[in-house]
Amino acid sequence: MGFAELWDSLLPLGRDPHTGGYRRFSFTAADAACRAWFCDHAAQRSLRLQTDRSGNLWAWLDPPPGPGPAGPAVATGSHLDSVPDGGAYDGPLGVVSGFAAIDLLRARGFVPSRPIAVAAFWEEEGGRFGVACLGSRLLTGAAAPPSARELRDSGGTSLAEAMAGAGLDPGGLGPDDERLDSIGAFVELHVEQGRALAGLGAAVGIAEGIWPHGRWRLDFTGRADHAGTTRLADRRDPMLPYAATVLAARRAAAEHAALATFGKVTAEPGAANAICSAVRAWLDARAPDEATLHRMVEQIEAAARQAAAEHGVEVGVRLESFTPRVEFDPGLRDRLAAALARRGITAPILPTGAGHDAGILAARLPTAMLFVRNPSGVSHSPAEYADPADCEAGVTALAAVLEELAGP
Ligand code: GLV
Ligand code: MN
Ligand code: MN
Repeated sequence: MGFAELWDSLLPLGRDPHTGGYRRFSFTAADAACRAWFCDHAAQRSLRLQTDRSGNLWAWLDPPPGPGPAGPAVATGSHLDSVPDGGAYDGPLGVVSGFAAIDLLRARGFVPSRPIAVAAFWEEEGGRFGVACLGSRLLTGAAAPPSARELRDSGGTSLAEAMAGAGLDPGGLGPDDERLDSIGAFVELHVEQGRALAGLGAAVGIAEGIWPHGRWRLDFTGRADHAGTTRLADRRDPMLPYAATVLAARRAAAEHAALATFGKVTAEPGAANAICSAVRAWLDARAPDEATLHRMVEQIEAAARQAAAEHGVEVGVRLESFTPRVEFDPGLRDRLAAALARRGITAPILPTGAGHDAGILAARLPTAMLFVRNPSGVSHSPAEYADPADCEAGVTALAAVLEELAGP
């Protein structure tokens, strides 16, 4: 099956008709439809389907039985979940391209010498339970199962309840060393989340590394009161230190040549004619190195504490997830670049500020990433886009890489 047909079969699932964005949150109906899509496409290709103990999906193309051991496997894939109103490409492009690359290799008569897997990880965005790359973190042991089971979504449903509701066993969550030890390389293809490739005139690129990044939750607690009768001097309004913190974060990011974003905030109880009792806000912070990241976050936290004190408000700061700097395996990266160059494909090496399951797996096995050009650079938005010809180029590049790594 060609890329376009495969892509079109996934496109309607979990799309909001009003915004045009995707709401593929873990263990919801939209997620179940995406998981069923994955299982269906694995079955259509006679790939061996597995769900690992942490709920991630794997579709295996096994080499023909032979006298010797097949050797370490090669895995590709990405995630199927989305941010609220996310784009079509972030995650799914890597999964669809994995199946399309297998189709392309088979059409050419390629027979693998080592097993090839296409994987789909859940909750990469942390869109429902707040922890980024949770499926791959549980797989590698970077997240502890007991605390993961207790995570709650905005409606109060625990992860354990949501998983059980989707027919998966939350009791099984945990690291799968045997699986990880059997994989010799993981290569994730992903839409580029920036405009570097457009500037370089290249359809595909190779990742160098990922900036360290994390999410912090800030809870500002004041006192609810009447908006029409409470004198300014008598207020303990948590919205004010929150607003001051947003501006401080912007200043700190500019000062440190880093990034700091408040993209999610709730005001409680949320009445237009009342001072709110609490503001909960999520800081996403990223920097080229960990020392800079920590300095910037300390500065933002200090600004929050000072502004809170000035307004008689309490503030609590809690780390929700953190990913240290990731340097992808240089040997594997060189091998990818050489395999692509032999086929006339020039793939520039790019750093990124975006997190990926490949970044989590990199702590356990040689890992690499391919990026597909995004002409506008826009991502985490319904406007995210990649040209069909570039997606095809991505499949060609991924097939070349799988052939290099799983071939004779
Ligand atoms: C994932 O897309 C992230 O970087 O937040
Ligand atoms: Mn994303
Ligand atoms: Mn992604």
